[in-house]
Amino acid sequence: MTEQQKTPYDLPDASGLSIGILGGTGDQGKGLARRFALAGHRVTIGSRKAERAQEAAAGLAAEQGADLPVSGAENPVAAGESDVVIVAVPWEGHKATLESLRAELAGKIVIDCVNPLGFEKGKGAFALPVEEGSAAEQAAAVLTGSRVVAAFHHVSAKLLLDPSVAEMELDVLVLGDDREATDLVQALAGRIPGMRGVYGGRLHNAHQVEAFTANLISINRRYKAHAGLRVTDV
Ligand SMILES: NC(=O)c1ccc[n+]([C@@H]2O[C@H](COP(=O)([O-])OP(=O)(O)OC[C@H]3O[C@@H](n4cnc5c(N)ncnc54)[C@H](OP(=O)(O)O)[C@@H]3O)[C@@H](O)[C@H]2O)c1
Repeated sequence: MTEQQKTPYDLPDASGLSIGILGGTGDQGKGLARRFALAGHRVTIGSRKAERAQEAAAGLAAEQGADLPVSGAENPVAAGESDVVIVAVPWEGHKATLESLRAELAGKIVIDCVNPLGFEKGKGAFALPVEEGSAAEQAAAVLTGSRVVAAFHHVSAKLLLDPSVAEMELDVLVLGDDREATDLVQALAGRIPGMRGVYGGRLHNAHQVEAFTANLISINRRYKAHAGLRVTDV
């Protein structure tokens, strides 16, 4: 008899998790904040300046015309008061931001969606070399007391923020060395309508997932699209 195929749907309940977002005032962080708040999660947008975070949260609530469960605070507060923390700062500020938040992030699941990319005229986007192997592995090296998971690299901020897009049709590759943590992050991805979290390997494999964003950017430029991935046969 064939063994029943395992599916990426046997996952824990992530509905009660609160989410903090470092660099949540940018398009990517704000877009994720918007979708997770719409899914009922309490979200804290983080920023280097509390006022910027509060403004971003107020902007989302005003646009939604409802009481979205979203607020704004400085990054350390967003990190400290949330169950799960997403890192959505630019690559340039990645290491220093995480080094400054080791205590607040200790014991937590930290989701890294940072793509270390360069851009050059005539070359387009390309992956930058990273000493630790990838942004996610750099996060794990800095945050030895946290459970680092890599996810949401290929999610278009434009679509996350677009109120006319009800469902985000894509698979989110979730990578990490801790099964419980990757399961929970897969479940979190599934909280956004249309999205599915699919396990994509250990953190050691995060580099090519981050780098593949450069290919997606090329696809987007050629076809004027906001391309995402779908994994077949799972
Ligand atoms: N944009 C996308 O479609 C997309 C998709 C997938 C993944 N990503 C990844 O998500 C991350 C954020 O992307 P984004 O487009 O939202 O970036 P962004 O707008 O350039 O930056 C996000 C926020 O990070 C803060 N920030 C800027 N420089 C910083 C520094 N040196 N140190 C600490 N914080 C800093 C700023 O917030 P405050 O000034 O308020 O602190 C800014 O609003 C990037 O690493 C990117 O690779 C982006």
